[in-house]
Amino acid sequence: MATVIVSAPLPGRFLDQLRALGHHTVLGESPYGMGRANLIDALHGSPEAKAIISLLSDQIDRDVVGAAPNLQVIANYAVGIDNLDLPVLRERGITVTNTPGVLTEATADLAMGLVLDACRRICAGDRLVRGRSWEGWSPTLLLGPSVHGATLGLIGFGRIGQALARRAQGFQMRVMYTQRNRVDRTIEEALGATWQPLDELVEHSDIVSLHCPLTSETRGLMSRERLARMKRGAVLINTARGACVDEEALANMLRAGHLFAAGLDVYEAEPRVHPALLPLPNVTLAPHLGSADFATRERMAQMCVESVIDVLESRVPSNRVL
Ligand code: DGY
Repeated sequence: MATVIVSAPLPGRFLDQLRALGHHTVLGESPYGMGRANLIDALHGSPEAKAIISLLSDQIDRDVVGAAPNLQVIANYAVGIDNLDLPVLRERGITVTNTPGVLTEATADLAMGLVLDACRRICAGDRLVRGRSWEGWSPTLLLGPSVHGATLGLIGFGRIGQALARRAQGFQMRVMYTQRNRVDRTIEEALGATWQPLDELVEHSDIVSLHCPLTSETRGLMSRERLARMKRGAVLINTARGACVDEEALANMLRAGHLFAAGLDVYEAEPRVHPALLPLPNVTLAPHLGSADFATRERMAQMCVESVIDVLESRVPSNRVL
C-alpha cells in the first residue's frame, strides 16, 4: 500500500477511494496548498511516498523530487503544468498527469464573463452603487464598447479557446485565432473562426483573449511592443497564465487610455498582483477562478485520484503528459 501526499483539501470525497484501497494520505491543511517548502518537509516525513497530488502553486523542482526517492506519479490538479520541472521528472521516470477537458467549459464561461465585465463595466457599476455615488440614469454613465458584433482575437485555439469561440457565436462576434498549427478546416468553419498571424490578430481585434499554455515561447508574449500594437480602445482578457503578459506595460496602457479595459484572472506572481494594476478602475481582477465551479473542481479531484490509482496499479493514465 502506498503513501499519497495531497497538497490541499480537495472538493468531493474522492480521497476516500484511495483510503478504501488501503493507501495512506498525508493531507495539507491549507486550502492554498503546501507549497514547495512544506511539500519537501512532508516528503522528509514520508520518504516512502509514491504519489503527490499537487496544486498549480506548488513548484515541483529537483529539490522536491530529491526528497521523494520512491515517487512514481505527480497528479497536477490543473491543466497547466508550468509549475513542474518536466526535464527533472522525465530524468527520474516519474509519471505526470494533469486535468484536461473537464475544466474547458468552466474556464470559457469565466473568460466570457470577463469579456462582458471589461466591456460593459459591471464591476465598476457595482462599485459606484455600493459607494452610494450613483446619482441616477444618465445617457453617458459607464459606457463601454459593444460585445455583440465585436472582433474577438484568440491567442491559442485548443479546447478552451474553441469553447470561447462557441460562446462568441451567440454574440455574433467575428472570431480570429492564432496558434502555431492551424486547426482542421471543418473546425474553423463550424466555429466561424479564421486563422491570422499573431501580430495581425493583435492589430485587428477589438478584444484579445489568451488561451495558450505558459512555455518559453509564450512567456512575455503580450510584451510592451505587442500591447502597443493593439487597437486604441481594445480590451485584453487573460485566463491563461499571468507571465504571458507584461503586467507593468499593460498597466501603463490602461492608465494612458490606449486600452479601454482588461479582465484578468491570472498574474505573474500569484497571489501578488502587480501594484500598478491595483488602483486602475478599468481592469477587473479575478483571483484565478477559471475552473471554479462546483462540478468542475470535483471532476478535477476525481481525475487526479484516478490517475494516482492507475499508476499505483501499473496502468497508464489516459491523461498522462509524461
Ligand atoms: C489550470 O487548470 O491550469 C487552471 O489555471 C486552474 O484550474
